[in-house]
Amino acid sequence: MKAVIFDLDGIITDTAGYHFLAWKALAEELDINIDNEFNEQLKGISRIESLERILRKGKVENKFSLAEKEELAVKKNEEYKKMIEQMSSADILPGIERLLYQLNKANILIGLASASQNGPVILKKLGLHTLFDTIVDPATLSAGKPNPEIFEKAAEQLNCLVSECVGIEDAAAGVESINRANMVSIAVGDKKVLSAADKTV
Ligand code: BG6
Ligand code: MG
Repeated sequence: MKAVIFDLDGIITDTAGYHFLAWKALAEELDINIDNEFNEQLKGISRIESLERILRKGKVENKFSLAEKEELAVKKNEEYKKMIEQMSSADILPGIERLLYQLNKANILIGLASASQNGPVILKKLGLHTLFDTIVDPATLSAGKPNPEIFEKAAEQLNCLVSECVGIEDAAAGVESINRANMVSIAVGDKKVLSAADKTV
């Protein structure tokens, strides 16, 4: 193993809850009800695709123009940014900081493969950004998770073969992305939801 490639939301920090609250607030304004179970399928999915899924749930996917959808996505992101404003190293999930330092000490490369455009800002707030050897910019991808592109790109940016990388994810779409990239997949969360992973903790 030469590199470990991390997802961010739900793995390094618990922002999944903030994403959900920000989407729920927007959905309520549109008279659409979303619950925790529905939220499971938004994990790992890009901002605009998440909005599309919410609009489909409310059967209003054809009601908005592209520009209006962009506006709704921006509105959700503004709400989300307010929620993450106060984040600090206290918000790093248990064990992650130690794991990153251990990998670093063992000369194993560390990458970030997050669908979030807020990823670099969040890593800085957590004080972890200097530990990462590379961050994939999700804006440069032609397809998001479950497509393998984001993990393949992380390996490429680290000059590693996919067979030399391990990916860590909390979302079903993310585990599929790692598996399709032919990396070893480690999932953190519910075994039933993440059964496709090579190992679940
Ligand atoms: C993923 C989250 O990491 O990033 C999704 O699991 C989120 O819930 C996606 O929608 C995009 O994040 P952002 O910060 O660019 O809106
Ligand atoms: Mg995640």
